[in-house]
Amino acid sequence: MEKYGLNTDCLTLTRFFLSEQHRHPEATGELTQLLNAVVTAVKAIQSAVRRAGVAKLYGLAGNTNVTGDSQKKLDVLSDELFVNMLKSSFTTCVLVSEEDENFIIVDKDRQGKYIVCFDPLDGSSNIDCLVSIGSIWGIWKRKTSEESGEPTMADALQPGNELVCSGYALYGSACMIVLATESGVNGFMYDPSIGEFILTAPDIKVKPRGNIYSINEGYTSGWDDAVKEYIESKKNPTKGKPYGSRYVGSMVADLHRTLIYGGIFLYPATKDAPNGKLRLMYECNPVAYIVEKAGGLASTGSMRVLDIQPKDIHERAPIFIGSRDDVQDVIDIYKKHAEKQQSK
Ligand code: AHG
Ligand code: MN
Ligand code: MN
Repeated sequence: MEKYGLNTDCLTLTRFFLSEQHRHPEATGELTQLLNAVVTAVKAIQSAVRRAGVAKLYGLAGNTNVTGDSQKKLDVLSDELFVNMLKSSFTTCVLVSEEDENFIIVDKDRQGKYIVCFDPLDGSSNIDCLVSIGSIWGIWKRKTSEESGEPTMADALQPGNELVCSGYALYGSACMIVLATESGVNGFMYDPSIGEFILTAPDIKVKPRGNIYSINEGYTSGWDDAVKEYIESKKNPTKGKPYGSRYVGSMVADLHRTLIYGGIFLYPATKDAPNGKLRLMYECNPVAYIVEKAGGLASTGSMRVLDIQPKDIHERAPIFIGSRDDVQDVIDIYKKHAEKQQSK
């Protein structure tokens, strides 16, 4: 199959999902159709990211989004692509975007059964200096019945443990999509020569323990004692070697490294940000689902991220995520500190 210098039987993302769909006789093909819309948005975003310098797409768009961030031109372009592709896929009824204050209800005649929450461009502060950025999405099924009329806030505010599928695209030295479903986590690399995503990393699993920690150490003075103790134990361990430190500042990039090399990514609460910075619906939940499906853990320190009952589409949550044993160490330290607090 490689005799022409290219694979004439390559396993594309669409082909992979069609065969998954085939294994479930009850499947209607709607999820494959939805993922195709996401893939189109990702292809267009990755092309814009690569051409941003010459196409004058760097810099601010001039607005501030609902969580207070200044919108970059690429944030706005990526948001439009996600919204337009998803609306016209006939597979979604509610869309939640980091860039839109309110949730979007898709026109009745184009509605399908899925809810999608997304961060169209993650790591915006890294755009103008050419560091890796990404897109993140989580897909849920509509809860309210179609006969009951329009979908409601209850459809948008579902916990991560109800996710059907989640994924991210990393616009790094190459472009890759990582997707998690009930059956596991798979990575698809973009082949620009044919414009397709090819399965290159089947059944991704995260190591039970790594040797890298990833946190913004500039905020050390704002951390609680548990985080301070944990990071200190990685820098100056009583036995064994210290962990290495890596922090890109784009969650998708930090997360992808954590998934592939192992270790832990932390975005804790601080004095100034009591729930941390990262948003539950379109940042924490989708990556928590991926990492858990890959055998890792995602916790707030006191509970599983996926079990949080959301109250607001833009709410934030602290997150400790990655290799199982590394995250467990943080959970244990939090438990110890909580017990000490109670016995006072
Ligand atoms: P976004 O660009 O979508 O607003 O997200 C940025 C996030 C995330 O990608 C990253 O992990 C985090 O901001 C970095 O924040 P700090 O600069 O506070 O470390
Ligand atoms: Mn983000
Ligand atoms: Mn963003």
